[in-house]
Amino acid sequence: MRKKIVVGNWKMNKTVAEATDLAAAILEKLDDGAVACEVGIAPPFPALTEVGNVIEKSAVGLVAQNCHFEDDGAYTGEVSVNMLASLGCSCVIIGHSERRQYFGETNQTVNLRLKKALDKGMQVIMCVGETLEERESGVTEKVVTEQVREGLKDVSDLGDVVLAYEPVWAIGTGKTATPEQAEEVHASIRSTISDMYGEVAAGQIRVQYGGSVKPSNAAELFAKPNIDGGLIGGASLKADDFVAIVKAAS
Ligand code: 13P
Repeated sequence: MRKKIVVGNWKMNKTVAEATDLAAAILEKLDDGAVACEVGIAPPFPALTEVGNVIEKSAVGLVAQNCHFEDDGAYTGEVSVNMLASLGCSCVIIGHSERRQYFGETNQTVNLRLKKALDKGMQVIMCVGETLEERESGVTEKVVTEQVREGLKDVSDLGDVVLAYEPVWAIGTGKTATPEQAEEVHASIRSTISDMYGEVAAGQIRVQYGGSVKPSNAAELFAKPNIDGGLIGGASLKADDFVAIVKAAS
């Protein structure tokens, strides 16, 4: 039985003070005892320390939104895995579609970042997903399969890997994939993992769904057999909504 995982990706939102307040509000509403899934929050880099202090003694994990693939060096504006670990991060999101779309991230750089994070013992959430144009031209499965295969190239152990299927057309648009549309792609991702790593690994890996998940649609999505939780954007910025989604996964 796979444990569901729900992570709030705050993207480029919240000052340090606002982020601290949001983390505190989430903890207050989240009754740890009633939460049966894994929960994480991914504030922007400047707020990691303060948010980490707020959630330190809770079951909520501190997640980063990106990392670089080198240990250190002349990479202005980038942050290394060691730096994130030193702030208490246990998990990092890699290859979010916004990184791919606006910052030139490719399957190859996703793969480099992912391998570096895994080498350092960090859990990773690798994001994949097709654009609207790709869906409409019928290449969703091809695109997503390629993202999974190339992103995981030369990775032998999936123990610390979570995948997130985030159709680009559903992110921040209010258009959620229907549970059936999402389930179809999730099943195809699991079958790719089975081809690459065998059935046992495919049965164990968790595949989150992301893209306009809200309290009103979360339970229906999470009820699908191949959907193991969610990567939540907009709704994770409101404590009540995020906690309701976590509860839907519990
Ligand atoms: P929204 O939930 O705002 O659509 O964002 C999803 C997402 O990109 C999470 O990483």
